[in-house]
Amino acid sequence: MKFSDEFLAELIERNDIVDVVSSYVNLNKKSGSYMFGLCPFHSEKTASFSVTPSKQIFYCYSCHKGGDVIHFIMEAENLSFPEAVEFLAKRVGMEIPREGMDETSKKRAVLLKLNKDAARFFNAQLNAPQGEGARDYMLSRGISRRVATNFGLGFAPQSWDALRRAMKEKGYSDYDMFEAGLLKKGQKGGFYDVFRNRLMFPIIDVRGDVIGFSGRILDDSGPKYMNSPESLVYNKSRNLFGLNLAKKSKEEYIILAEGNIDVVSLHQAGFDSAVASLGTALTPEQARLISHYKNQVIIAYDSDTAGMSAAKRAIGILEKLDVKVKVLRLEGAKDPDEYIKKKGPDAFRQLLSGSENQVDYRLRNVFEKYDLSIDEQKVEFLKEATDMLSRLPGSAERQVYAMRVASMTGLKDDAIINEVERRRKKLLSWNRKKFEKEQTRPVRQMQPEDRELRYENPQSAVAEEGIIRLLYLDPALASTPGLPEPEQFSSQVLRRIYALMRERIDRGEMLNNAALSAELSSSEMSLLVSILQRPEDLSMGSTALRDYINRIHEQNEFNTQTLDLRDLTEKLRKKKGV
Ligand code: CTP
Ligand code: MN
Repeated sequence: MKFSDEFLAELIERNDIVDVVSSYVNLNKKSGSYMFGLCPFHSEKTASFSVTPSKQIFYCYSCHKGGDVIHFIMEAENLSFPEAVEFLAKRVGMEIPREGMDETSKKRAVLLKLNKDAARFFNAQLNAPQGEGARDYMLSRGISRRVATNFGLGFAPQSWDALRRAMKEKGYSDYDMFEAGLLKKGQKGGFYDVFRNRLMFPIIDVRGDVIGFSGRILDDSGPKYMNSPESLVYNKSRNLFGLNLAKKSKEEYIILAEGNIDVVSLHQAGFDSAVASLGTALTPEQARLISHYKNQVIIAYDSDTAGMSAAKRAIGILEKLDVKVKVLRLEGAKDPDEYIKKKGPDAFRQLLSGSENQVDYRLRNVFEKYDLSIDEQKVEFLKEATDMLSRLPGSAERQVYAMRVASMTGLKDDAIINEVERRRKKLLSWNRKKFEKEQTRPVRQMQPEDRELRYENPQSAVAEEGIIRLLYLDPALASTPGLPEPEQFSSQVLRRIYALMRERIDRGEMLNNAALSAELSSSEMSLLVSILQRPEDLSMGSTALRDYINRIHEQNEFNTQTLDLRDLTEKLRKKKGV
């Protein structure tokens, strides 16, 4: 991982964190040296997301995510470190130094270019004489030439090496193609084309790069779909088929379907905000990606039971991000493609406008679980339904649905409304208590959010944190006599961070978030930021440092003393022959 320090420092300086964050979060003016807003990384009603302009960092007191502007973009845009750097460089028109690109970035660039060339090759095959079968298949599925072009569809011919030969000519190696998932290795060690006799759907990310392929077979001679494996450029849980087009739609909602064919067919019928989740159940990353573009999702999954239960899970994931969800019931058809073919686009449009919202949908699901003619079940239904409604943020909404529950059960409106509000109050006070408890947690108990990073010796860790914080603020303090060695730190993660910092200071290198963040994992970086976040009076720097140093030495002595004691008892025991 090597961008030069100078480059990263300039990148960070030119991308002011307040500017960058402001296009995602409504930041409110300052309280002290912080600015606050609603955290974009989890759902919340009170602002616990902070930005500290003076330190150019963000930190959420609730979900404990934190970092510099690069980490913010990594989280917000679902990007890797080098991708986020690229993103921010583009934002301010900075050129990425060629020699600054590390091996991985170079490899990524090669794979992306290869994928694009492969997509061109497949597309040319579709339009060539040998593509007739595939063209016929498209026709039979009602896919027009125009839509095929928009999606960049193609045809992988029935051959073991057509793609391989074509890409060889363009200068790609077998290994490049293997890494991109376009070739497989045969038993005798040779390579052969993965996609054969298939209608090819390139998977294009929101930046317009071809990151992988999905190929549908034209007959029944094998598995229906073959998909690119995950690679340096393709992560299926972070991408959606069709989002490159859907993100430009004027509709306020995204239509979420299951199949690639459904997406193509929906776009063709004029529903240009349709996407599909690449053969997986909707993942939280995909949901977050959607929420960057639209805050409303209409789920149009297959109408079988698998589709219904996938819809239920998707609702939960999307709701956490405050995305409004509606679910379509495709009566009389197995999927949106068939629905449109059978009943026409107008019928589908009507379905869209009338589709149930998620409260209706979930209420109905709860309703269907119980037999309300049995008293016990009626009680259970009421519990579950009123609990669900108590979590709705709007009071009008709670009332409306409470009345619906009343009519379902034959009870009085007021009785249900009161029950919902009672549960709401309980919920709120529980949340408040939890929040207060977190706020007043004594420093000694401040453990890293990530369980894997837990401190063994919190007393010592507080001092270790303090040294890291001071050194970060003023690297000149590194020459303070008696400064502990990394090995003297009790916490492994702090030792690692501290050693990194010391090395950089010794080599006279810069000590900024960017330089460190390239070498730390996300959770380590979040921890570092939470440490830097805590107040420290630099004017008292050297005194505070002495204090921290003493505490670490004390803890170390304490440890050696207890060790010595243990040693001694051991020796004594041996002597006595016990
Ligand atoms: N899928 C897959 N492997 C399979 C079957 C399906 O990866 N063997 C993925 C594909 O991404 C596919 C999606 O799951 O698009 C939905 O599957 P399905 O509904 O069977 O495919 P459709 O694209 O709708 O194709 P068709 O209409 O021809 O059934
Ligand atoms: Mn389908």
